[in-house]
Amino acid sequence: MATHRCVDFGMSSFTDPGDGVVVGHGTMGGRRVYAFAQDFTVYGGSLGEAHARKIGKVMDMALRVGAPVIGLNDSGGARIQEGADSLAGYADIFQRNVDASGVIPQISVIMGPCAGGAVYSPAMTDFIFMVDHTSYMFVTGPEVVKTVTNETVTKEGLGGASVHAGGKSGVAHGSYPNDVAAMRAMRTLLDYLPSSNDPSTLPVRPATDDPSRTVPSLDQLVPDDPNMPYDMKDIIREVLDHRSMFEIQPDHAKNIVTGFGRMEGRTVGVVGNNPMVLAGCLDIGASEKAARFVRFCDCFNIPILTFVDVPGFLPGTAQEHGGIIRHGAKLLFAYAEATVPKITVISRKAYGGAYDVMSSKHLRGDANYAWPGAEIAVMGAKGAVEIIFRGRDVEKNTAEYTDRFANPMVAAQRGYIDDVIEPRDTRRIICDDLRLLRSKKVDTIPRKHSNIPL
Ligand code: HXC
Repeated sequence: MATHRCVDFGMSSFTDPGDGVVVGHGTMGGRRVYAFAQDFTVYGGSLGEAHARKIGKVMDMALRVGAPVIGLNDSGGARIQEGADSLAGYADIFQRNVDASGVIPQISVIMGPCAGGAVYSPAMTDFIFMVDHTSYMFVTGPEVVKTVTNETVTKEGLGGASVHAGGKSGVAHGSYPNDVAAMRAMRTLLDYLPSSNDPSTLPVRPATDDPSRTVPSLDQLVPDDPNMPYDMKDIIREVLDHRSMFEIQPDHAKNIVTGFGRMEGRTVGVVGNNPMVLAGCLDIGASEKAARFVRFCDCFNIPILTFVDVPGFLPGTAQEHGGIIRHGAKLLFAYAEATVPKITVISRKAYGGAYDVMSSKHLRGDANYAWPGAEIAVMGAKGAVEIIFRGRDVEKNTAEYTDRFANPMVAAQRGYIDDVIEPRDTRRIICDDLRLLRSKKVDTIPRKHSNIPL
């Protein structure tokens, strides 16, 4: 029954019951969720005072009872006719997005052209899914772009799923061929998540995949040649329950893999360097992608498994000028700050700063393992010998360096690695650790909040 009360610009002659948004609650997988869905047929789904109040109401209720909020966004942003009331309405929602952040999961599905506040509110939620070729996200649409910059661009080129989920901006977390597929994916994601940051709401499925299952194929998975790529997703899947992972941002910064899976029926977050892309180097995109994922897991008490094969940070002017120092620091900060159970497996390379970053023992990793072929060093043999011996006795010095560092033994002797394990035993050992770590408690330093480099 809610309607707008605007009388300007001919609005008094048109009232649409509901004011262009449907809000309510229901269940998904038997658990309570709150949702809102904007209706583009009513003033382009734009947000006026009444529309904003309705969304605010479900967000307040979701926060009060500890249930996720799902937003189906299809809106031209602040309703132009309602002026300051629209802006106020959006700001009220933004404030609620922030209040709810880290308390209840917030998921946005972009289901049409979205502009202005209709993208900034989703940007503050935890996950954004888009629909290929029918959903768009931009601060201002193509017509405004043309007026201001004289640039001609299509909606797709400006802010389609190919831009935001396809490797360019990293704004969205997944794109799907149609509305139904996007909704299904959202439901699948929700299945992995707790209702709130109360650990008792973490979903527990029956453990139908043997936790002591050995995986002999892992013994042969990493190629002998350290420069040969392999797909880290193959390792991750083999370790997880039923070889199943729900990947987050699969088409963005593919040099790092992020996703959810289960171990013994309980949700885990997985991060893994992927040697298939950029040899698995950390770059700006990968650091930001993984940092946000790690922070999400930490907010919601989801243990983090980290699979490491990283030759370092990606060198070059593009990365340095783009601020790899600042962006790489985000991932370092996120791992160091995370207090959830952290388990790390080094499958091959762990070089330089990237070794430190990737959930190392020094960032209070709870269990850190290396496979027998792991190499833990400041850098690879070629680069190291070039620097410290300046081209002298290259062969001899390379052999000596390789002998010393192209194995996990030095790190293990120091206790930086808890154990060198056979790849086939990885799942069994991680399941054991996760069981042990369910009662993990960490005291945090009292402060208002930390200051992650943004
Ligand atoms: C009122 C709006 C509207 C808006 C669209 N409509 N956006 N009405 N306020 N913000 C209406 C149109 O007038 C039209 O009405 C109908 O919705 C469909 O719009 P079309 O333009 O015909 O649709 P389409 O070609 O698909 O283009 C969709 C669009 C475009 C890309 C979203 O409408 C657009 O650029 N809208 C403006 C976007 C914007 O700049 N919003 C304000 C952002 S400021 P009729 O009656 O003709 O069917 C903001 C502040 C928040 O949000 C703070 C941020 C930090």
